[in-house]
Amino acid sequence: MGAAACAPAAPDLPAGGGAAAGCRGCDLYRNATQTVFGEGPADARVVMVGEQPGDQEDTSGLPFVGPAGRLLDRALGEAGFDRGEIYVTNAVKHFKFVERGKRRIHKQPSRTEVVACSAWLATELELVDPELVVCLGAVAAKAVLGPATTVGELRGRVVARGAYGVTATVHPSSVLRAPDRTTAYADFLGDLAHIRETALR
Ligand code: URA
Repeated sequence: MGAAACAPAAPDLPAGGGAAAGCRGCDLYRNATQTVFGEGPADARVVMVGEQPGDQEDTSGLPFVGPAGRLLDRALGEAGFDRGEIYVTNAVKHFKFVERGKRRIHKQPSRTEVVACSAWLATELELVDPELVVCLGAVAAKAVLGPATTVGELRGRVVARGAYGVTATVHPSSVLRAPDRTTAYADFLGDLAHIRETALR
């Protein structure tokens, strides 16, 4: 079905979040605890888009509050960003997982689920009207610019998309999973610092 069918034109972010809370645009709502809408100021200059909420985001209802979020916060601070000034959201608003014993293990959303959820991201981008959208990882990059987009082609550059620019770096979870975490973190931080220095007017 897709979120567009249950997404009324929202006048503001709280209304958008309220409408998204009842979204049945795909099946992911069935097993997730709740919709995790974006968070941050309505007049943010930067929107950061992740993939989907994780386990802790699903239970708290807030984006990027688990291990990947803590790594993101640290890197943002070190790169000269203030997370409080950034609108942080995800391409998909429900946690998709498989159960392994007591643990809920992240499962990547399908293209169909990303497309089904795209009306909420479009609503957020329209309402925030940022200067820059930073895609964190491939799922976000494809959600924002289309399925042929890769992080590699966007890393270190900004492409114009209507009123805003779009760039990308890796997803913070990939830093946590990297065999050489120190180097992966340094690269991630380098990307964010480069974005901070060059991409904002
Ligand atoms: N990973 C994401 O992509 N988003 C979150 O909110 C948390 C983890």
